[in-house]
Amino acid sequence: MTSVAIVGAGPGLGAAVARRFGREGFAVGLVARDRGRLDVIIDALAGEGVTAHGFAADVRRPEELAGVLGTLAEALGTVEVLQYSPVPHRDFMRPVLDTGYRDLVGPIEFSVYGPVAAVQQVLPGMRRLGRGTILLVNGGSAAVPHPERAGTSIAFAAESAYGHLLHDRLAPDGIHVAQLVIPGAITAGHVRKDPDVLAETLWGMHRDRHGFRHYADDLDS
Ligand SMILES: NC(=O)c1ccc[n+]([C@@H]2O[C@H](COP(=O)([O-])OP(=O)(O)OC[C@H]3O[C@@H](n4cnc5c(N)ncnc54)[C@H](OP(=O)(O)O)[C@@H]3O)[C@@H](O)[C@H]2O)c1
Repeated sequence: MTSVAIVGAGPGLGAAVARRFGREGFAVGLVARDRGRLDVIIDALAGEGVTAHGFAADVRRPEELAGVLGTLAEALGTVEVLQYSPVPHRDFMRPVLDTGYRDLVGPIEFSVYGPVAAVQQVLPGMRRLGRGTILLVNGGSAAVPHPERAGTSIAFAAESAYGHLLHDRLAPDGIHVAQLVIPGAITAGHVRKDPDVLAETLWGMHRDRHGFRHYADDLDS
């Protein structure tokens, strides 16, 4: 059995993706900082018939994140699908003129060092398998920089560039790299931005393996 590693897994999109990929037979590993919150999600998933396992790590600590992904693969099987979708901290979203270079440390650690550490950790296993999928999930400022959210806008641009480079480099090796941009808020009951609908979109991206950037909704929504 192979696994899906959901990095930045909470009760919203993280849990929905766990349900969707769990249903397809993947072993499910959830990574987030708070062990107690992970246990609550795991219990809720168990109630729906999905077995998931929790691994505590802060994505802003690259060695810790890589170590936990190694442990996850040993416990659950090679990571075939890596989803990187931690929810960014509010402090990363300040107006551009209030953003100094020190304010960019957090966003860059979060959106660049974290994904790079995670990808480098799981890539050898994907290569051994001969297949794999890397899914990056971002807000709308990844596509259109937002003047009030300078930190995420700048860091998401770097993450997008990294993902795009990976997409082109890894496609011939059977490893699909794609990004889902979610404009506006994830909203329960929304026709395109309900967590379960987004999880279905991510499943489709994994299954269909077309192109790098996908939009969950219109950019002006
Ligand atoms: N929510 C929205 O309206 C919205 C809108 C557009 C795009 N998105 C994107 O959707 C994804 C998140 O979906 P969601 O909002 O439904 O979230 P979710 O899956 O319900 O939860 C995400 C989890 O990320 C974890 N996290 C935050 N900082 C972390 C860190 N430093 N290290 C490890 N884990 C961390 C948090 O758990 P801990 O606190 O336990 O670490 C949180 O529970 C993100 O990619 C986000 O950019 C969300």
